[in-house]
Parts: sequence; C-alpha cells; structure tokens
Amino acid sequence: MIDGKNILLGVTGGIASYKVVDLCSRLVKEGANLKIIMTKAATKFVSPLTFETMGRCKVYTDIFEGHHDHVYHVDLAKWADLFLIAPLSANTLAKITYGIADNFLTACLLAYDKDLIVAPAMNSNMYTNVATQKNLLTLVNRGVKIIEPSEGLLACNVIGPGRMEEPENIVKYIEDYFTEKDLLNKKVIVTAGPTIEPIDYVRYITNHSSGKMGYHIANEAKKRGAEVILISGPVEPFKISGIKKVDIKTNLDLQKEIDKEFTDSDALIMAAAPTDYKVKDVADKKIKKSGQNLSLDLIENIDILKYISSKKDKQIVIGFAAETENLIKNAQKKLNEKKVDYIIANNLKMEGAGFNVDTNIASLVSKDGVEHLEKMTKKELANKILDLIK
Ligand code: CTP
Repeated sequence: MIDGKNILLGVTGGIASYKVVDLCSRLVKEGANLKIIMTKAATKFVSPLTFETMGRCKVYTDIFEGHHDHVYHVDLAKWADLFLIAPLSANTLAKITYGIADNFLTACLLAYDKDLIVAPAMNSNMYTNVATQKNLLTLVNRGVKIIEPSEGLLACNVIGPGRMEEPENIVKYIEDYFTEKDLLNKKVIVTAGPTIEPIDYVRYITNHSSGKMGYHIANEAKKRGAEVILISGPVEPFKISGIKKVDIKTNLDLQKEIDKEFTDSDALIMAAAPTDYKVKDVADKKIKKSGQNLSLDLIENIDILKYISSKKDKQIVIGFAAETENLIKNAQKKLNEKKVDYIIANNLKMEGAGFNVDTNIASLVSKDGVEHLEKMTKKELANKILDLIK
C-alpha cells in the first residue's frame, strides 16, 4: 500500500509535467510522503511552487543550494522507499543510461540503490529513435520498471506513441508495486451485488446491495496476487482489471456459477446479497392491473452458503451477515447454521455501514470469538477480510 511510503518524485522537462501535478495530488491523497526534484527544464513547464503546494513538500531544483550539514541529493536517496521519474524525457533517460550526474535529479539517482520506476513521455520520433529504444532496453536490463507511454495525439500535433500514462494508472502501478503478493497461487471466488427474481415478464424482486464490498474484495485480492473469479449480480459498473467476471441474475445462476468454480478454489467470499425468496409461479407475460390487491406466492430460495459449505474441503468460506438488530447473536447463528469459517457482521442501521456507502463497521465472527473493527473504508475492510485467507 502507498500509505506512509516515502516516494521521491523526479520531474523532467516535458509538457506531460502538467499531468504530474495531478499525479502528485493523487499520491498525497493515498497517504504517500512525497519529496520532489525538478530539472531546470521541468521548471519551465510548471512552477516549483505548484508542485510544492500539491505535493505538500519541498521541491529541490539546485544541487548547489543547501547547508553545510546536509548533502541533500544523498540524504534524499537514502530517505526514499521508491524513486519515480515522471515524465522521463529522452534527455534524462540518456543521462541515466550513462550515469551522468550533472544536476540534482541525476546526481540523486546515482546515489540511490533501490527500485526505480519511470514513465517516459516524448515526441513519437524521439521515442522510437534507436538511441532512445536502446537506452530504455539498458534500463530494463538493469531492473528499472518502465511504465510504457501510450499512443495518442501528442502536444507536437503528431499521433503516435509517447504520451505519458495517465496519473490514475501510474498510481495503480505504484500501489501494485507496494502490495505484498501474499495471495499468489490462490484461487479466490468473490460474489457481489444483489440477485433478482422475476415476478412476471417485466418485473422482479431484488434488494439495495450496491456490490461495492464484493468489488473491493475482488480488486484487492487481485492486487495481492490471487486468481480472482468475480460472480456479480446486476450493479453499476465498477473498474476491474485482470479479473474473470461472470454476470448472473437469479439465485440459481449464482449457485450454478459458484458450483463450477468451487472444487479447485481456495476460498469463497460471499459478499453477494441473494434474494431470500422467489415467486412460485412466474408469469410469462406482463401481469395486468385488475383493480384488486395482488398477492404473490413466494417460496424460499436455497441458502447457497449452506449448500456450498457441505461440499467444503480445503476451502475457507466467508459469509456476511447484514443485520438490523442483535448483530452478534444473529451472526453467530449464521456461522453455525451455514457452517462457514467466518461471518463478517455489519449492522445496516449504523451510520457508515451497510449498502451504498464507501465505509463499513464490521465485526469478524468465527468459532474463536468476535473481533470488532472500527469504521473503515470498504477497501480497507476488503484487505482485513483477505488477511483471513492468506
Ligand atoms: N446467503 C446465501 N444464500 C441465500 C441468502 C444469503 O448464500 N439464499 C449468504 C449471503 O451471501 C451472506 C450470508 O448468507 O454471505 C448471510 O446473508 P444475510 O442476508 O445476512 O442472511 P440470510 O441468511 O439471508 O438470513 P436473514 O435474511 O434471515 O437474515
């Protein structure tokens, strides 16, 4: 995770440096401690004051500026957990390749001995030039991580490769870099969102589940190296990448898809909110108004967790308990009746918990006892839950 990490950000001369202001702000929001070095050329595009303000840190530009008791370019190299250069110009790339140390940034880099991530940005011809490509290859062979530029309309009015990756994706890359891959070789099934049960040709029964919890768990599990199968009911679109997603509608669909994946899985995290009842006789046409009250004959749906737990072998099965009263008592009952390893209990009536919000207040209930967690984001809770299966 980026939170609390010391990131040394090097900014070189290129129009893409205006996008790095946004990158700075995103890194600060994620909790990074930033220090920034700008080359002289970079300061022609964006003022150091802008970076100082957005990065909430000092910006270093001049290697000769300093005090008798500090060698700043060496101190910063020691301080950093990660050195990130964005944008990386063709010129600084060439200097790095040959170990030139003629400004603060390149001198600091020479004194730095940990991982380096660079996000090149330049004109397409400069990028595809054999000299640049050879320099990039040298860096790759030294273990430098390159965030490849994308293709697009460049500031020089050329369409081609050379556009710096978007700040949002650079942050994701860095987050991924800092995330320990402690779920490697684990297959994790995550379910999310509501299910729906038809009433007639046009109507259905469902619930308020937004799917947020399940999608956060799926995304975090992927970052931690797991193979993730996300089985999702109908929800608003969420961003996911590298995750196999299966869309379902009814409880039966959900049960069938879990069945397909369960045998060779390591864990099932059942964050979906299946509908407990379905209509006994679904009309195959639209039910017309009759001027009378209408009663629906509802029958109970199969409890998927209970069903799947009976097939449990090595898998860790985690369920949720969405309650409005007697939270722990009801959660313990679910733990025993559904024969799962953990129940994540939350009181839907508490502010900051439940459907459609970005936070949750949960208690982890298992046969060993109850752990009450403080209010946290669904992303943080997702990682707490994943800690249970690592
Ligand atoms: N669940 C399930 N199959 C169902 C209903 C729920 O597998 N038909 C799962 C949910 O995904 C959740 C857990 O069981 O992980 C508890 O769901 P919850 O809605 O809190 O409780 P229910 O078992 O439906 O019981 P009740 O509605 O009476 O509280």
